Amino acid sequence: MADQVGTCAICGTATATSRRRHARYCSNACRQRAYRQRVNEPVMALDSFIGRDAELLRLTGLTDTRMLTLVGAAGVGKTRLIKEFVGSRATLVELASATDVTRACAAALGEPIREPVLSTLVRALAGRETLLVLDNCEHVAAECAALLEPLLLGCPGLTVIATSREPLRVPGEVLVAVPPLSITNAVELFIDRASANQVGLRLGDRDVLAALCARLDCLPLAIELAARLVTVLPVKELLARLDDRLELLNRGNRTAAERHQSLRAAIGWSYDHLSADEQHVFRCISQGPRGFGLDVAVQACDLPSDRVLVLLSALVAKSLLTFTAAGRFEQLESVRLYGRERLAEQFAGDVPGGAAANLKVVRRGPAPAANH
Ligand SMILES: Nc1ncnc2c1ncn2[C@@H]1O[C@H](COP(=O)(O)OP(=O)(O)OP(=O)(O)O)[C@@H](O)[C@H]1O
Ligand SMILES: [Mg+2]
Repeated sequence: MADQVGTCAICGTATATSRRRHARYCSNACRQRAYRQRVNEPVMALDSFIGRDAELLRLTGLTDTRMLTLVGAAGVGKTRLIKEFVGSRATLVELASATDVTRACAAALGEPIREPVLSTLVRALAGRETLLVLDNCEHVAAECAALLEPLLLGCPGLTVIATSREPLRVPGEVLVAVPPLSITNAVELFIDRASANQVGLRLGDRDVLAALCARLDCLPLAIELAARLVTVLPVKELLARLDDRLELLNRGNRTAAERHQSLRAAIGWSYDHLSADEQHVFRCISQGPRGFGLDVAVQACDLPSDRVLVLLSALVAKSLLTFTAAGRFEQLESVRLYGRERLAEQFAGDVPGGAAANLKVVRRGPAPAANH
C-alpha cells in the first residue's frame, strides 16, 4: 500500500511513496517539466498544466509512428497536450489562421518560399530528422493531407504530429483521441485558475465544484472561462446559471485566439465549417436528450435513415458527437446548448423539445443546401 508522505519536487503535491520506492514527481507532467528544467528548455506555457498522465504515456509509446493526429472536441486540450509533450524539440506550425498550409510550413521551418514550394520543402527535409507539429488543422484538413502524403513519402526522417478536431485521413495516420479531463483533474484546473483570478478565495464544497465541472463536460476551455466568473458569482450560483453558459463564458485570455475568447466562438468554429445538411442534423439532435439512437435522430431530422447515418458519422468525425461503447450517440452539454441556440435562431426563439425524452421532427428551412 502507498502512503501519502513524499512531495513532488516540482509542484509540491503529495506523492505516493511505498516502502521500496520514493516517487520524486507526482505525475508524468511534472516529470517532463523537471526534464525540461534540467536541459534548460524554454517553458511552453505560463500557467500550470494539469493531469494527462495517461495521454502523455500513450504518446511516449508511439514515438515510432510518423504521422500522429490528436483528435478531440473544441477546447478539450489537444494543443496544450502536444506542446507539453514535444517541448521545444519540434517545429510548430500554427494553422488556425492559415490558408496556405505548404507556405506556412516552409515559413515555420525557415525554408525559402520558392515555387514549387512542395518540391523545395521535400528537398530541404529529405536528408534531415524533423519533428513537425501542425496545430489546429481541422479547417484545412484536405490541404494538410495533400501536403503530408508526398512530404512523408519523400522525407524518411520526418515525423508529423497534428492536432485537429477531425482526422486528416492521410495513409498511415494514427489517431489519438483526447478525451475531456478526469473529474479530479477538472476540479483541480478550476481551483487553480479560480484561485489565480482571486487570491485567497474560498471556493467551498468540493461536491459543488465537481458538479460544476461535470456540467462543463470537464472541458479545460470551458473550465478556464468559468473560473473567470468567481470574482462576481459564488460557485453555487455559477452552477445554477450554466444553462446560460454561452452568454456567460466569454472572457478568454487576451492573447488567446479569437475562437478561444468564448465558449460560443469555440463551438461555432466547428459549426461554421459544417455543410448545410450537417448543420441541420446537428441542430435537430441538440433538442433531445444527451444520448440517443439512430432511430430517434432519423425521426427528428426528417431525412432518410442512410442519409442521417452519413451525416451523424460526419459529426462524430468532427468531434461534435461521440458514439459510445453502448451503441448510442452522445453530445457534450455545451455542444448541445449551442445546437439549441442555433435552432432557436432558425425558429426565432421557439425551441421545441426541452428535456423531452423524444426528439420532435424539425422540418428543414426553406432553402435546403446541396449535400457536401
Ligand atoms: N491539461 C491542461 N492543464 C491546464 N490547462 C489546460 C489543459 N488542457 C487545456 N488547457 C487549457 O485549456 C484551453 C484550451 O486548450 P487547447 O487550446 O489545448 O484546446 P484545443 O483542444 O487545442 O482546442 P481547439 O480545438 O479549439 O484547437 C487553453 O487555455 C489551455 O491552456
Ligand atoms: Mg488547438
